[in-house]
Amino acid sequence: MSKVLFHHIYKRYAGEKRAAVNDFHLEVEDGEFLVLVGPSGCGKSTLLRMLAGLEDITEGNIYIGDRIVNYISSKDRNIAMVFQNYALYPHMTVYENIAFGLRLRKLPKAEIHERVSRAAKILEIESQLPKLPKQMSGGQRQRVALGRAIVREPEVFLMDEPLSNLDAKLRVQMREEIGKLYRRLRTTTVYVTHDQVEALTMGTRIVVMKDGIIQQVAKPEEIYKRPANLFVAGFIGSPPMNFVEGKLRLREGQCLFETRKHTLLIPEEKSTILRDNGCIGKTVILGIRAENLLYRDEDLARPELLPNQFEAVVEIKELLGSDTYLYTNNKEQRIVVRVDPHTAFEEGQSIRVAIDMQRAHFFDKVSEVLLC
Ligand SMILES: Nc1ncnc2c1ncn2[C@@H]1O[C@H](COP(=O)(O)OP(=O)(O)OP(=O)(O)O)[C@@H](O)[C@H]1O
Ligand SMILES: [Mg+2]
Repeated sequence: MSKVLFHHIYKRYAGEKRAAVNDFHLEVEDGEFLVLVGPSGCGKSTLLRMLAGLEDITEGNIYIGDRIVNYISSKDRNIAMVFQNYALYPHMTVYENIAFGLRLRKLPKAEIHERVSRAAKILEIESQLPKLPKQMSGGQRQRVALGRAIVREPEVFLMDEPLSNLDAKLRVQMREEIGKLYRRLRTTTVYVTHDQVEALTMGTRIVVMKDGIIQQVAKPEEIYKRPANLFVAGFIGSPPMNFVEGKLRLREGQCLFETRKHTLLIPEEKSTILRDNGCIGKTVILGIRAENLLYRDEDLARPELLPNQFEAVVEIKELLGSDTYLYTNNKEQRIVVRVDPHTAFEEGQSIRVAIDMQRAHFFDKVSEVLLC
C-alpha cells in the first residue's frame, strides 16, 4: 500500500487549447478510497491514465509512495487497473485470465495457483474458473477483471468506471462488493465515475472535477452538505438542488432575500456572515435541496418557518418508491419538493411550502462560490 501524490499536474493534448487536467494538486492518503467524479470530458480518465503510465504528463510530478513515477513504465509502477470494458482475453478461461499477468511476471506456478484461488474465493467465482468469458454474465466478467487486479497485490488500484456497463441492479450489487473488497484489503484506490451516487456511497473522499480543475475535495457528507460552489451543489444530489436568484437587502437589521415575487427572512447566523462579507445589495443564488422544503401542517406552523412560505402548484408528481418528488411552480420558477409517498398530493393541486432557511445555501452570483 502507498500514498499517491499528484504534484501540480497538467495535461495538454497536442492541438488542444484548454488543458484537459489543470493544476491538479492532491495527496491520496495511504489506504484511502478516493473517488474522482465529474461530467463527461472533465479529465478524470486522463488523470487516471497519467497515474497508470498510459499517458504522458505535460507538467508536474506524480509520486507513488516516495518515488516519482513520471518516467517509470506502466508495468513497473506496481498498480492494477480495472476498466469499464473488462478487457478479458476471450480465448482464455477465467483462471488463465486471472493468472495471465502473474505468468508474465514469471511467478512460480504454485504461487500463481495460490493467488488465483484466493482471489476467486474472495470474489465467489471459484466455480467459474474453467469457463470462458463469453459463458459469463456482465457482472461475473467484471468480477474476473477485479480478480485479475487483486492477484497482482498492487500498491494502488485504479478503476475507471468499472460498473458503467452493468445494469442498475448489478451495479448496486457490485458497488457493495467493491466496497467489501476495499474494506478487506485496504489498498489505496483511485476510482473514477461520473455517477454521483457511486461517488457518495463508495468514496472515503471525493474529488469533484470540472474542465480539468478540482472544484472540491472532501468527505461525501461534506460535499453533500456544504458544496463549495454552485457547480458542486448542482452536480451532487438527485434531483439537483433548487436554485433561486435574488437580491440581499437589509431591513431594520434583518437580512432579507428578495425575488420578484417573494421576500424571505434569513436567520441570524447566516445574516451575520452575509453582512460581514459585504453582500448586502448583491445578487446571490439561494440553493435548497428538495428534502429541505417542508409541507406538513405541523412544520408550516413552526414560528421560525412562518415568514418563509410560498404557494406552488404541483405540475408533475414523480413516484420513486420510498420518496415522491413534486415538481412545483411558485409563479416564478420550478421548485422540486420531496414528500412522503403516502401523502395525497395530486398534479394540478396547490400546496404550501416552507423553506428551511437553516439548511439553505447562498452562493455569489458572479464567482459562484459558497458564501454560507
Ligand atoms: N487522446 C486525446 N487527444 C486529444 N484530446 C483528448 C484525448 N483524450 C482526451 N482528450 C480530451 O481531454 C478532455 C478530458 O478527457 P477525459 O477522457 O479525461 O474525460 P473524462 O472525464 O474521463 O470523461 P468521460 O466521463 O466521458 O469518460 C476531453 O475534453 C477530451 O476531449
Ligand atoms: Mg473517462
